[in-house]
Amino acid sequence: MNVLKKNTYILAIESSCDETSLALMKNKEIIECWTWSQVNYFQKYGGVVPQIASRLHMEKLPVLLKELIAKYPVIWAKINYIAYTKKPGLIGCLRIGRAFAKTIAMYKQIPLVPINHLEGHIYAVTITEEIQFPALALIVSGGHTQLLYSKEDLDFQLIGSTVDDAAGEVIDKIARKMGLPYPGGPAIEELAKTGAPIYKMSVYENRKDLNFSFSGLKTNAAHLWDKTQQDAIFKNNFAASFQSKIIHVLIKKVNLARAKFPIKNLILCGGVAANQALRNGLKKNIAVPVIIPPKEYCTDNAAMIGTLAFQKIAKAKYQNELN
Ligand code: KG4
Ligand code: ZN
Repeated sequence: MNVLKKNTYILAIESSCDETSLALMKNKEIIECWTWSQVNYFQKYGGVVPQIASRLHMEKLPVLLKELIAKYPVIWAKINYIAYTKKPGLIGCLRIGRAFAKTIAMYKQIPLVPINHLEGHIYAVTITEEIQFPALALIVSGGHTQLLYSKEDLDFQLIGSTVDDAAGEVIDKIARKMGLPYPGGPAIEELAKTGAPIYKMSVYENRKDLNFSFSGLKTNAAHLWDKTQQDAIFKNNFAASFQSKIIHVLIKKVNLARAKFPIKNLILCGGVAANQALRNGLKKNIAVPVIIPPKEYCTDNAAMIGTLAFQKIAKAKYQNELN
């Protein structure tokens, strides 16, 4: 016995940072996922400006919803759950998403399913794969670099985290220094393809615990960039060296975690998981199957929020377990 109705129709909302995203789900199936990226507004600042991001969510969410209803009027009438990103994220952006979700839920008289954004990143993998437990998840995003361990479904516990900058944050900061567009990950990946990792960059590696530290690498890379003549070949080699150092650190920590925790699967997720070199590097160097969401569901999107919401609804015995 659980709360699952015969068919679950979910409207999912993601607004934690600089992507405004709505998804329509029928059970596990993604009927539609529209993500409107705000990145063009932040190019000149080299990063997200929270007040502008909140205003853009407020403007764009109703527009996206109106278009979604116009395209799927029958599905809209059947929606029986509203899922939204509760935390973590930019506080103003989260509030806009929550107010929007609450308004629709009140209007439709249907339940809300608050979702943790990071858990959403993990469950994006279930769009195409099944997680074998016990499992380890490596979340690498713009705001977080975390390792989580779980013996069973919906029970991921934090076992390691960055003590300073997140990997994606360092990538974006170094990309900015290199004069590349925001967010910097895709541009660095592109340059690295034709470069060789010939430069040594040091990073603080605590071999005993499962925490990460990337700020030393950021300082080191910035220093190398400043003191070298920046021709095209240097740029490519610099990008390749920087990217491969980050991948090296992530592989090392995952293997350290694997030695401490028995696992059947490693889940790689978060925006930086869109990086092909990282995907390949982990698959090659971790001795358990590595499962990764499709690239379009690595960066922020509402389908991952809807996917996790469905999993929670399907498991919940009572409605109040969803809150
Ligand atoms: O998960 P996400 O979309 O937003 C947060 O929750 O933070 O992650 C955004 C991060 C940015 O730092 C961006 O530069 C990085 O993901 N990213 C990449 C790639 N695509 C996005 N990093 C490396 N290679 C990529 N292809
Ligand atoms: Zn994210």
